[in-house]
Amino acid sequence: MDKENHPGLDPQDWDEYRTHAHALLDACIDRLTEAREHPWIPVPPQVLSSYSIPAKPLPIGSLRETLVSQVMPYATGNTHPRFFGWVHGTGLATGLLSEMVAATMNSNLGGRDHGLNYMEREVIAWARDTFGFPHTSSGLLVAGTSQATVIALSSARIRALGPDVRKKGIHGTQPLTIYSGTAAHNALRKAIELLGIGTDNLRLVPDGENGPDPEELERLILADKANGLIPMALIATAGSVDLGRFDNLNAMADLAAKHGLWLHIDGAFGAWTRLADEPWRSLSNGIERADGSQRGRAEPGGEPAQRDIVRQVHGDEDQLQSADEERHRRDHIAAMARRVDQGLLQGQIGIRCGGSTVDLGGGLVTRPNEIRRRQHHDAEADEGDHGNQPALA
Ligand SMILES: Cc1ncc(COP(=O)(O)O)c(C=O)c1O
Repeated sequence: MDKENHPGLDPQDWDEYRTHAHALLDACIDRLTEAREHPWIPVPPQVLSSYSIPAKPLPIGSLRETLVSQVMPYATGNTHPRFFGWVHGTGLATGLLSEMVAATMNSNLGGRDHGLNYMEREVIAWARDTFGFPHTSSGLLVAGTSQATVIALSSARIRALGPDVRKKGIHGTQPLTIYSGTAAHNALRKAIELLGIGTDNLRLVPDGENGPDPEELERLILADKANGLIPMALIATAGSVDLGRFDNLNAMADLAAKHGLWLHIDGAFGAWTRLADEPWRSLSNGIERADGSQRGRAEPGGEPAQRDIVRQVHGDEDQLQSADEERHRRDHIAAMARRVDQGLLQGQIGIRCGGSTVDLGGGLVTRPNEIRRRQHHDAEADEGDHGNQPALA
């Protein structure tokens, strides 16, 4: 290729790139070490105009200069130790390092065989153990609590209506109802809207001493059942966004179990108390009884970006993607096999299966038999209970 006229996307001069990258890293570390000197400041109007996308590529030095002087100074303010504006954590200095490596690797966590997939699984296993979830539980790292709530309640919806809801939707079914205390975050309403359940079917239960009044909660569930509605889920809050309120998780878990409801715990703000000593730790007692929960955001854990964990434990294979870790992996293989059959996959892929790796590298992608054999073998091992429907296609 003609380098002059078609320079490609790589830096033209790697040494120059390296020099500016080092200087930028220093500027980032300065920003972290001087966090106390950087309260929130608004973006000045003259700076705003510098955010326009230039018609021609910026030289790497100008890019660094723009990032350091026009972008970095105008942060949310949450890296300042006295920032109390929103529930954004300060982040950790180590987060800068891992983000750097993540950007360098530029890996997609949708599959294949690479280090970050294994790291993700370790993070999920750590969360599982920290929150006392059973070993069969699995999880996902997602972008935030709103997303996590949609995924968790989608599982609850499948549990309430059966697997057919994935094909047929909720048309023609009786209304599903959801119950929460007044502390619930607005993310819940958004999820209920998105899932087609409708916020008229959200019952906001008046407060008792510790979250929703259990008697009133039970009365509402029974009334809805009597009216032919389908009580679907109970939402408990471990740390509300406004006042840091904690519902009595054990009381809600008892009610959920008694009436066969999915228990979802929003721990975006307070699940971290599992890492704390008393008196904070016991605030989240009972979190291990959740069907779905999120641990969230960048608060005390300090992850640099908002990554939430959804946990799902119910053993019904038709529920969403992560009812069972081993089964999830096998279903994924079955889905991959179909895509290979459909000619949708080209090039290198690797599929993890219950800790082992099925590599379909390079030309090996033309070996769907291998996966089919495996799928067959797994189906046999399951004594036919597994079916061919992937939970996550
Ligand atoms: C308790 C609680 N739930 C849900 C959310 C929504 O989280 P996200 O902005 O990650 O979607 C927040 C955000 O502050 C929260 O504090």
